[in-house]
Amino acid sequence: MVKSIGVLTSGGDAPGMNAAVRSVTRAALNKGMKVFGIRRGYNGLINGDIIEMNARTVSGIIQRGGTVLYTARCPEFKTEEGVLKAKSMCEKMGLDGIVVIGGDGSFRGAADLSAHGIPCIGLPGTIDNDIACTEYTIGYDTAMNTAMEMVDKLKDTTQSHDRCSVVEVMGRRAGYIAVNVAAAVGAECAITVEEGYDLDEIIKKILANRSSGKTHSVIIVSEGIGNSEQIARDIEEKTGIESRATILGHVQRGGSPTLRDRIVATEMGYYAVELLEKGIGNRVIGLKDNKVYDVDIQEALTMTKPFDSKIYKILNDTAY
Ligand code: ADP
Ligand code: F6P
Repeated sequence: MVKSIGVLTSGGDAPGMNAAVRSVTRAALNKGMKVFGIRRGYNGLINGDIIEMNARTVSGIIQRGGTVLYTARCPEFKTEEGVLKAKSMCEKMGLDGIVVIGGDGSFRGAADLSAHGIPCIGLPGTIDNDIACTEYTIGYDTAMNTAMEMVDKLKDTTQSHDRCSVVEVMGRRAGYIAVNVAAAVGAECAITVEEGYDLDEIIKKILANRSSGKTHSVIIVSEGIGNSEQIARDIEEKTGIESRATILGHVQRGGSPTLRDRIVATEMGYYAVELLEKGIGNRVIGLKDNKVYDVDIQEALTMTKPFDSKIYKILNDTAY
């Protein structure tokens, strides 16, 4: 019988991680289990930075960005020695299973620990939406809304000065944030790793739009492409239009989670506890056809995810 579980957040933080921690904690308490919060990712599991959670420990956090358990990267956990230390800490604390909230890297760690006899369930927590086994990752919606609001503000000044703004958004190598934000703000185009780009074509479009009366331009660049300062300089040089680059940066990782992030996190957290209660480990929770499901971690790590080509095409066909 499962008496006690742990929960940790690992890798980059994402809005909604707290909602997931709350859900895991409350769902497990509701089943009569003890719950332990492991702090700073796998580091807490190696060095025993672990606190007992109760219903009040997670009060008032559902609406908070960041993670109350803190997060970190833990190179030691990538070694056999690190995993063995974590395993003996689990045994010492009597942990029958662990919920790991993070990205693909964190899931690799969860698979290793599961293979050493500690059942782990992965919850996809990253703003990038770059986890193949799931249509959606906790934090994605909030990050896109934050980026959208910032670009809306930026458009005011871009417009006042008849300028071109090149805006770099996060996403690591993935362009999901870029293409959706571009469509949501009515940008000229999105430059992503998945679709590549031809600067001369973009310049043609900017100039065609100017000749039809448009007085400003917004280009969204995915950080996997980078180079936004250079792209802005090239546009200015080739068009004569004053251009500025803005890198939105880590602000996209903060803020109060949207309803969607809170609900997905809550549903996934609850589901993770149901699996652990049955003694099931080595699974990742995801959304498929908008429904929560679970999949083997190794299988999840070999999956590939299609790009949002439809919204990319719509963006290009409507950006005038
Ligand atoms: P994310 O989970 O967001 O992808 P990282 O790739 O930085 O972030 O991974 C977070 C942590 O997960 C790492 O610091 C490490 O502790 C653990 N981890 C990553 N890759 C592995 C691996 N191959 N084996 C074991 N643990 C790993
Ligand atoms: O994975 C989330 C993310 O914010 C990426 O979009 C970005 O590339 C990376 O993390 C930044 O990582 P760090 O917090 O280490 O600068």
